[in-house]
Amino acid sequence: MTDKINELLRRVEAFRPKAAAEVEEFRIRILGKKGELNALMEEFKTVAPELKRELGQQLNRLKNTALERINTLREELQDAAADQASEAGDLTRPGSAAPIGSRHPISLMKNRIVEVFSRLGYTVADGPEIEDDWHVFSALNFPPEHPARDMQDTFFIEKNPDILLRTHTSSIQVRMMERQKPPIRVICPGRVFRNEAISYRAHCIFHQIEGLYIDEGVSFADLKQSLLYFAKEIFGEQTAIRMRPSYFPFTEPSAEVDVSCNLCGGKGCAVCKGTGWLEIMGCGMVDPNVLSANGIDPQKYSGFAFGMGIERVAMLKYGVNDLRLYFENDIRFLHQFDTAF
Ligand code: PHE
Repeated sequence: MTDKINELLRRVEAFRPKAAAEVEEFRIRILGKKGELNALMEEFKTVAPELKRELGQQLNRLKNTALERINTLREELQDAAADQASEAGDLTRPGSAAPIGSRHPISLMKNRIVEVFSRLGYTVADGPEIEDDWHVFSALNFPPEHPARDMQDTFFIEKNPDILLRTHTSSIQVRMMERQKPPIRVICPGRVFRNEAISYRAHCIFHQIEGLYIDEGVSFADLKQSLLYFAKEIFGEQTAIRMRPSYFPFTEPSAEVDVSCNLCGGKGCAVCKGTGWLEIMGCGMVDPNVLSANGIDPQKYSGFAFGMGIERVAMLKYGVNDLRLYFENDIRFLHQFDTAF
């Protein structure tokens, strides 16, 4: 019997569990009611009385060793599990979702306008935001005394020679005419800068899209039809346009384009100030002076140009009543446009 006791003692000492569940299993097998220790206790009842003292002590030692060993192993494994959990965080916690942003309504509207004109064969052109006098004013037939050349209207970086922030994307027109011989058919989106006080209807930074089409035999009728197509695509099939005579140094004749108010259907409301019409852009036939200034023969070629503020088009389409909202980047405002385009 001593052999059996020693053998069990060796196994208790050699026991190296990996998990708490193994310890419990081991405890039941050794110390449980039908466990190995109790089996030895039963056997102990049958041994000769002179052996009882010695064997009884051995059995007690075995029992205590087993209990101690099991308790220590339990504690060790619990500590290890706690350490692991605190290192990796609580792995059972649900993950935290990373919220995604959304595209800015100005980008969405710009992409939409570009898409409409690309269907008419326009490609996209770009140009610098910091420009010189030639590309923003002189090449576009601005007379020397024009008020746009004044510090009140334009942000100058340097004077003589004038370096300034472009006040309109028409400067990209000039760069296109320099770079390419007709036919030219481009759409030029970009940021523009004007020295204006910020209010609900004006900002010193905003976005424009300018269009330019130069070829042989381009007419005012082509301009009107292109803009009607654009208006219907952006504001809906029922939309009408009208043109009012206007003035720009770089176009002759020039016009302001209105679209029928899509909020009241042309009946007159607060947004269209009772007129039924909303002003969305300026346009006209490229002035022959501008063509010659840029090395294009006005006898052979003609063209039209138009330009609009992207903020304004998006305001009119979606009833945004304060221009400043576009620049605040409040996600509650921006998210409203996710599915709007
Ligand atoms: N550049 C003009 C503006 O900023 C818009 C325009 C573009 C008008 C092209 C006519 C032709 O107001």
